[in-house]
Amino acid sequence: MTATFPVPAWLVGCGNMAGAMVDGWRAGGADFTGVTVVRPSGTPVEGIRTITDYPDERPRFVMLGFKPQKLAEVAPGLAPHVGPETVLVSMLAGVTAATLRELFPNAGAIVRIMPNLPVAQVQGVTAIYSADDGFDEITALIASLGMIAVCRREEELGVIGAVASAGMAYVARFIEALGKGGKALGLRPEQAEQIAIQTLVGTGAYAAETAASMTEIALRVASPKGTTEQGLAVLDAPDGLQQLVDRTLAAAVRRGKELAEEAARRN
Ligand SMILES: NC(=O)c1ccc[n+]([C@@H]2O[C@H](COP(=O)([O-])OP(=O)(O)OC[C@H]3O[C@@H](n4cnc5c(N)ncnc54)[C@H](OP(=O)(O)O)[C@@H]3O)[C@@H](O)[C@H]2O)c1
Repeated sequence: MTATFPVPAWLVGCGNMAGAMVDGWRAGGADFTGVTVVRPSGTPVEGIRTITDYPDERPRFVMLGFKPQKLAEVAPGLAPHVGPETVLVSMLAGVTAATLRELFPNAGAIVRIMPNLPVAQVQGVTAIYSADDGFDEITALIASLGMIAVCRREEELGVIGAVASAGMAYVARFIEALGKGGKALGLRPEQAEQIAIQTLVGTGAYAAETAASMTEIALRVASPKGTTEQGLAVLDAPDGLQQLVDRTLAAAVRRGKELAEEAARRN
């Protein structure tokens, strides 16, 4: 699906995350005519007009791609450019729609998103939440980057952030551990991690193509009384993987709430 921007479109801040989204849109053949990146460094973004101050136009789409701590500094200068014709999209973790509405009172729809880095490969998971109407074009734009998860409640953004955005780091740790385990059992270090990574890639491809559940995939690998079953018994123990993952996600969600409270106090 080729992305179409409501133009004029401004990408305010374009670092790791917004840059990954741009990479995904570019990979999907997006037309960047009418799209402008505004960033203080002016560092060029391939194929997109990149400038350091807001152009003289009324944007129909504004995406906030800077750190949440910058919001108080950015909002006063940006807000006068944002009117009822503007859909304001924020990826700022922990900054609520209510806070954004206070800072951008004239915006049309205000939409919060929580993407993850594989949007660059058009394999992303992006959570999306809005209390407003009138942003179908944005939903399509985000959906062109992979999977879109529509949130009914704003709090779900933080949970999806923990599972999918931070989750990428957790999966990376598991794969690293798998590789280290292989190394401890005698594999060459560089070979061990590559084998673990390819196992992840292969499992993902297998799951996507067969649509088998994870339970079913484990069953297909584990023959009764075989080697896989012995390993699964360790992972499935009461103090095993699920408990570890539950504690990991709980810690991330808890920190997200703390950051949200800090952001509310700051703005
Ligand atoms: N990284 C992730 O996995 C992830 C996942 C979900 C959500 N997010 C959210 O994405 C946002 C950006 O994170 P990031 O990791 O991409 O940060 P980052 O790489 O540090 O990029 C920050 C961007 O903000 C720009 N910026 C700084 N001050 C600005 C200002 N006054 N006006 C306009 N732009 C300004 C920077 O411009 P210059 O380059 O010109 O300095 C840079 O392009 C955060 O709010 C975060 O919560 C990140």
